[in-house]
Amino acid sequence: MKFILVAAVASLGGLLFGYDTGVISGALPFLKHDFALGPRMQGVATSAVLVGATLGAAGAGAVSDMFGRRRVILFVGLLFIAGALGSAAAPALSVLLAGRAVVGVAIGIASMLTPLYLSEIAPKERRGGIVSLNQFCITLGILVSYLVDYALAGATDNWRWMLGLGAVPGLVLFLGMLTLPESPRWLAGEGRTEAARAALVRMRRPDEVEPELAELRTDLRHDGRLVPWSALLSGPARKPLIVGVALAVFQQVTGINTVLYYAPAIFLSAGLSSASVSILATAGVGLVNVIMTVVAMRLLDVAGRRALLLWGLGGMIVMLLVLAAGFAFGNGGWVALMTIPSVAAYVGFFAIGLGPVFWLLISEIFPLAVRGRGMSIASVANWGSNFIVTLVFPPLVAALGTATAFLVFAVLSVAAFVFTWQIVPETNGRSLEEIEAQLEGRVQAAPYHA
Ligand code: BGC
Repeated sequence: MKFILVAAVASLGGLLFGYDTGVISGALPFLKHDFALGPRMQGVATSAVLVGATLGAAGAGAVSDMFGRRRVILFVGLLFIAGALGSAAAPALSVLLAGRAVVGVAIGIASMLTPLYLSEIAPKERRGGIVSLNQFCITLGILVSYLVDYALAGATDNWRWMLGLGAVPGLVLFLGMLTLPESPRWLAGEGRTEAARAALVRMRRPDEVEPELAELRTDLRHDGRLVPWSALLSGPARKPLIVGVALAVFQQVTGINTVLYYAPAIFLSAGLSSASVSILATAGVGLVNVIMTVVAMRLLDVAGRRALLLWGLGGMIVMLLVLAAGFAFGNGGWVALMTIPSVAAYVGFFAIGLGPVFWLLISEIFPLAVRGRGMSIASVANWGSNFIVTLVFPPLVAALGTATAFLVFAVLSVAAFVFTWQIVPETNGRSLEEIEAQLEGRVQAAPYHA
């Protein structure tokens, strides 16, 4: 089987992540009407997914270290279907919230397991592009959700269709995954070398199989026991944990989701007069997100992860300062006009750096023995920060104004830039085993710019 097909099926997890997080913005006005939701319950309806995702991400690592990547992705496909159909058919608010929380659990698991699986099946020289298929699908899912919301706005039972349609990619993920191989790296770590060879045979040219097999770590689970969680706090896993958690938090506290979730409101408050222009501008921003992610996929294996992260963060800082200045000096007129390209450029810079690189790096830097659990912790930090920022942003804007909110994001982006400059390792062009050896100090680290 062509391994790119394997990657395409697996990255449907990313599409569902994007679709199911994006779809709520267009469904919310109708939910508000049908269930008579006040502001507090609207917040609950929006964040049910984020709470579920935090829980899902927390459990996914240990479970996928124990049962393998493939079986857990199959289970995720079923969860996506159940959650989507449950929320679409919901007769009462409680059922709707439960359905959204189930979808959230599925998103949380998929958010870490899709990049993990992709990184473990990808050849090292193409790993950046392949793993970032996940981020590409996330952005595509967000864009599709905007378009579906827009197209269904006038239909009867519209929110039911909006939420229920997520079952379709869920089903394709489940059926597709039935035919895909288990991660050869996980199999080798289990001591199942023959099964690892068989998995590689399905995805590589014949002459590539034995050299790659020789590189895989087969010394990890001979006694059938997992390495304990505490191994993450000391030794070679400690630095990856610091990098993973810090980048997780930085990815969220620099404002991406407030900009994506509240874009129409930002455009309106800048003085853009019509709601439909502002929705269209939001779809444009979603498109920029997709296009710049494609650019990142092309560059990651050439320019390296650090360079893209630093350029992306640099651009985000500039655009956030422009936005802060714009809102500080009044609204309407030129501020309104300037807001659209500035927001689009900010999202574009996120899409070439922090967006794909965070999920890619956390799939690369943890030692295999604790990879699932290390990624879990970083993903929990990501979803938890997303949840907090989503809750804090509206009161922050109300209390301090939009300009100050953007300034806060700019300052946090500067912190992310300095952290990356000082601490984040380059992983480009090395196998996962070489990265592990390098971080353990078993081999000399190559210079960052090499
Ligand atoms: C982030 C999401 C965000 C998306 C936007 C992902 O990498 O984790 O929180 O909504 O990028 O493209």
